[in-house]
Amino acid sequence: MDELTEYLANSAEDGFWDQIQSEARREADREPVLGGFLYASVLRHKKLEDGLSALLANKLHTPDLPASLLCDLIHVALDDDASIRASIRADLMAARTRDPAARGYAQPFLYYKGFHALQAYRFAHWLWEQGRHGLAAHFQNRISEAFGVDVHPAAQIGSGVLIDHGTSVVIGETAVVEDNVSLLHEVTLGGTGKESGDRHPKVRRGVLIGAGAKVLGNIEIGIGAKVAACSVVLRDVPPHTTVAGIPARVVGRCTVAEPALEMDSTFPFADSGAGI
Ligand SMILES: CC(C)(COP(=O)(O)OP(=O)(O)OC[C@H]1O[C@@H](n2cnc3c(N)ncnc32)[C@H](O)[C@@H]1OP(=O)(O)O)[C@@H](O)C(=O)NCCC(=O)NCCS
Repeated sequence: MDELTEYLANSAEDGFWDQIQSEARREADREPVLGGFLYASVLRHKKLEDGLSALLANKLHTPDLPASLLCDLIHVALDDDASIRASIRADLMAARTRDPAARGYAQPFLYYKGFHALQAYRFAHWLWEQGRHGLAAHFQNRISEAFGVDVHPAAQIGSGVLIDHGTSVVIGETAVVEDNVSLLHEVTLGGTGKESGDRHPKVRRGVLIGAGAKVLGNIEIGIGAKVAACSVVLRDVPPHTTVAGIPARVVGRCTVAEPALEMDSTFPFADSGAGI
């Protein structure tokens, strides 16, 4: 996690939330139909954590676990763990700067279900780490139902991660995803079905995994590697290498240190006029 996100996560001033609020205010002026929604999701909240807890609770609640209870539960996790608070901001920055379609920060915050699924996973992972495995499993199921993203709560996911679109992403129990990774839709980080125990991929820093890629087994995708869309990867991928095909073969070398960051490179907070 970089110094900026760590500072913002622990500081009384939060450039991310100020930015999201000003974008939401502008949008409420432009589109009064959304005024109630924007007030409930953003404008009435003092902090990013308050808004995110409410937003996730609204998406994940059930008759048996009402939104108010869920909102409080999520808030406890966010209050307890400074690394989650920093990761939320790093993930928002990832969505904003790597998705060429993202306009500002309010749009990913409000509408990107890959972002929502990742933050809800962070909460489920916190429960898992507390030994509350039953409740963590409940949320794995709810996240899958609500966002189409199925991440085992024991999986380890770093910060500054982009799960673009989200739909049909599956991440297994013993998978590791390091910082600054980008996963596009329909990516599976799964087992081969032939191994037990530690059986899922280890994806190192800055890796880009294209849409539909299936990465199977306890293999390592080396730092700064690229996996082409729809590949089936069954062997270790060396650092800074591009692989493609079924089964995946090396097709090139990566010229940038962290290909995941190269999806787009807009400077954060540069476009103060950005809308939703
Ligand atoms: C792999 C990728 C990142 C390009 O990386 P790159 O290092 O620039 O690779 P190149 O484009 O130079 O391609 C290298 C070789 O791999 C082949 N290749 C690239 N993508 C491939 C794929 N998905 N499947 C099979 N072969 C592929 C190219 O045809 C080329 O073959 P050649 O040398 O015989 O001409 C890109 O093709 C890709 O798959 N990006 C993911 C994009 C995505 O998921 N989009 C969804 C957005 S919603």
